[in-house]
Amino acid sequence: MRDVRRQVVGGVRGNVLEVGAGTGANWEFLPPGVSYTGVEPDPHMRRRAAANAQARGGGFVLGEARAEALAFDDASFDSILATFVLCSVDDQPAALAEIFRVLRPGGEFHYVEHVRPDGMKGRVFDLLTPAWRLFAANCHPNRQTAQAIERAGFTTDGMRRTVLHGLPNIYGVAVRPR
Ligand SMILES: C[S@@+](CC[C@H](N)C(=O)[O-])C[C@H]1O[C@@H](n2cnc3c(N)ncnc32)[C@H](O)[C@@H]1O
Repeated sequence: MRDVRRQVVGGVRGNVLEVGAGTGANWEFLPPGVSYTGVEPDPHMRRRAAANAQARGGGFVLGEARAEALAFDDASFDSILATFVLCSVDDQPAALAEIFRVLRPGGEFHYVEHVRPDGMKGRVFDLLTPAWRLFAANCHPNRQTAQAIERAGFTTDGMRRTVLHGLPNIYGVAVRPR
């Protein structure tokens, strides 16, 4: 997990937006010199993030926003970061459209997301999802997020796959074409 975070987060650059930043688990992997903005809709998560920021000596404050409604101008960011977030958003196409909109052409979307398994396991996850999301903060274990990122208009060359905590995951850097 830490190795995947390091790879994905360590490549962001310039003006960076993190969506669904949670408790700030990615902060330790940010490269030096970036200008960081983070948003997180859950007040409990923001409180835990504030404690984490304080323990780290400050420097991180999360705004309140959902990925589906980002209050930033078009093309505002060089990099956008979201890890384990697109499984939980209410409206995945709307969230990806917003990420695409606020990323500059040529900018990079850095992501790690667990995705629907193939085959029989995927069909089992389809059946489990209505109950799973109720007990797991709206997390959907059956989302086909790789396809959704491509449908949103990103290029996804070099998308990588791995298994984390028994679930198939995708990670990498998607690019908003120029
Ligand atoms: C599994 S946690 C991941 C947190 C963090 N990104 C990490 O990697 O540790 C999912 C996060 O997505 C946030 N989230 C849920 N719905 C969201 C939405 N519509 N827009 C943005 N973030 C959302 C949750 O509040 C939570 O902080």
